[in-house]
Amino acid sequence: MHVRALTILIPVIALGCAGEPSESGAPRSATDQVVIEFQAPVLQLTEIQESGKQLYDVFCWTCHGSTGRGDGPLATGKTILAPPNFMEGRYPGMSATDFEARFDEVDPARRLPGHMRYVRSVIRPDKFREVLSYIPALIYPSGIPGSALSGSAIYATRCRLCHGQTGRGDGEVGVTLESVRPADFTSDTLLAQQNWEGLFMKIRGGGEGPHTAMPHFGQLFSEAELWDLVAYISMFHPGLFPTLADVTSG
Ligand code: HEC
Ligand code: HEC
Repeated sequence: MHVRALTILIPVIALGCAGEPSESGAPRSATDQVVIEFQAPVLQLTEIQESGKQLYDVFCWTCHGSTGRGDGPLATGKTILAPPNFMEGRYPGMSATDFEARFDEVDPARRLPGHMRYVRSVIRPDKFREVLSYIPALIYPSGIPGSALSGSAIYATRCRLCHGQTGRGDGEVGVTLESVRPADFTSDTLLAQQNWEGLFMKIRGGGEGPHTAMPHFGQLFSEAELWDLVAYISMFHPGLFPTLADVTSG
């Protein structure tokens, strides 16, 4: 599950308003609390996409790669035509219906592209539609050559403890850092500017100056994984992209 709400309780006294009269006119006590709800990015697959993912992860990934980049183990030189990178060209922004239309365009009398006839012939039609509905979810959000879904798994194990579940830089370890606190992605300038290249460089190169704990991830992760992370952290800035559900329901 990727849906988690975090409730943060800020004692009123910490905001410097202790003792100010409340609306009712009575003085607030130091134990009054303001409740602010922060929401972690929602990357929830529909049941259909979940079902499609199962098929994708046992069959399609061998050529198309686990993140749809066309870099699966069977793709290297073994097929006549290379599988496309779904994060480039015409594919970003395509819905399940658009993908299905591509398969419908194939003239069965023509020998090529054989792949499309082959794939369709080995999968039950209802399952075929399901697996096609997973591809837009996999390459979401379009506009960044990375997979937010894939990045979310890396974030959970490698970034969350510093940057926090809700991206505010308030993870269990983040709040204990001495000199430089982790970036707050909900108000981050690079994110607001949609400077994806800049974020990529930051994650690859690590923090600046001698007093930062932000690790250099360039040697730990592949370029593809770094882009997956950029795609995921883009989710922390509200409103940059339509939701996963909106994008893939078409
Ligand atoms: C044996 C390797 C292989 C497997 C397995 C495979 N594909 Fe492909 N796929 C290709 C190749 C090669 C192409 C590009 C050539 C072509 O379009 O025929 C392609 C192209 C595609 C395209 C793009 C069509 C377009 O619009 O250009 C889609 C969508 C697709 N595959 C979906 C799937 C799905 C879904 C599965 C799993 C159910 C799957 N493929 C399994 C090799 C594979
Ligand atoms: C040990 C704590 C720690 C971990 C783990 C960590 N970070 Fe950071 N991060 C920081 C700190 C501290 C900063 C503050 C800025 C600086 O040092 O440049 C930062 C800054 C950043 C920035 C720069 C934002 C900006 O606009 O300048 C990005 C992007 C970032 N982190 C992404 C990540 C990603 C992605 C991961 C996981 C792969 C991660 N961080 C893991 C501590 C951490």
